[in-house]
Amino acid sequence: MVGGGGREHALADVLSRTADVVVTPGNPGIPGSVTTPPEEVDADLHVIGPEAPLVDGLADRLRDAGRPVFGPGADGARLEGSKAWMKEVVSAAGVPTAAHATFTEVAPALAYLDTCTPPFVVKTDGLAAGKGVLVTGSLTEARNGVEDYLSGAAFGDAGKRLVIEEGLVGPELSVLAVCDGTRSVALAPAQDFKRAADGDLGPNTGGMGAYSPVPFVDDAMVADVLDRFVDPTLAELRRRGIDYRGVLYAGLMFTSAGPRLIEFNVRFGDPETQVVLPRLTSDLAELLAQAAAGRIEQVPTFTDEAHVTVILAAEGYPASPRTGDRIEGLEAAAAMEGVEVYCAGVAAGPDGGLVTSGGRVLDVCGRGATLAEARERAYRAASAITWPGVQYRTDIAAAASDGRGGPG
Ligand code: AMP
Ligand code: GLY
Repeated sequence: MVGGGGREHALADVLSRTADVVVTPGNPGIPGSVTTPPEEVDADLHVIGPEAPLVDGLADRLRDAGRPVFGPGADGARLEGSKAWMKEVVSAAGVPTAAHATFTEVAPALAYLDTCTPPFVVKTDGLAAGKGVLVTGSLTEARNGVEDYLSGAAFGDAGKRLVIEEGLVGPELSVLAVCDGTRSVALAPAQDFKRAADGDLGPNTGGMGAYSPVPFVDDAMVADVLDRFVDPTLAELRRRGIDYRGVLYAGLMFTSAGPRLIEFNVRFGDPETQVVLPRLTSDLAELLAQAAAGRIEQVPTFTDEAHVTVILAAEGYPASPRTGDRIEGLEAAAAMEGVEVYCAGVAAGPDGGLVTSGGRVLDVCGRGATLAEARERAYRAASAITWPGVQYRTDIAAAASDGRGGPG
């Protein structure tokens, strides 16, 4: 397992039900973490967690060395590495998505923005750790965003090419499909919470919480997502000579005109993984090995149990998280019934405990017979963990557990 966040902790945990797992580089909160570089780990299967090494071609280098890999090569990973290229591919595939235009110069970008209606959406073309998206009702804020992106002030080179999109409105859904180059199978859907503050306020983040299952989504809707979004994209990739073996994660918005693609990610979602994978009742290691070998021979199965994860973040996240604070109460929280804590931005403290070392620090997960029970357990555990400045949303899965939050 390549990576070192909460997603990799959850994946390693579920993979270790049926396989021996090492995590590189992992972190001091993930069992089985090793400092050996991925290229030097002798494994039957390499699973790559984060997008950056995928975009950088780690899967290609491992495959060139004869190793089975779950994760697309640099060619397919461009779907996430370049939003402009993603838009070109999905347009060719006939996938329903927001109208858009790509810019590298301020004047034409501002002129185009002036023709748009709110909400205004401005995105970096390149990777920006999930934070390169500005969605605002204010034209002034959007115009300022365009200038800050293109000058490099906001996101460095990643923002010097930007995408302006039609603003979509509706509930969001994450569907993660496991692909073997030709065929796809869906994992259970999840909903994540990208804004920093309660009520979907504040800046976009890497994700502040998630839950699964999603009450407004049934099996037919998931099958429709494979039919209309994932499979046409896989076919278009194949037409371009790209053999895509890994997760194709469709970020969708259910608008009044039907589902629309917001983005494709080329990896497991973080924090969706933390609520989806523990629900698996079939063998994850076997599924990923089959995908890596180009022949999926099973449809994954899931429990009906509900899972909710709440991200505990450092003060100042996402702009400038403060680090180095001692984390208290983790063991007591993790010992609570129906609770699992996955470690993300943590480092070893001077006296054996863990200290904060990143923006998203811990993923506190609750499971239960209902979303309400899972949510109650997650929040009880979250409130038992402290460090100076710890922050988290208090409304993760609140609407869904009350029967609200669907497309209406
Ligand atoms: P992305 O990184 O592309 O998934 O965007 C992050 C978040 O920004 C999404 O989860 C949505 O909440 C929001 N977003 C992105 N694109 C749009 C859009 N075209 N219309 C409305 N909201 C969007
Ligand atoms: N949860 C959003 C992402 O993984 O990009």
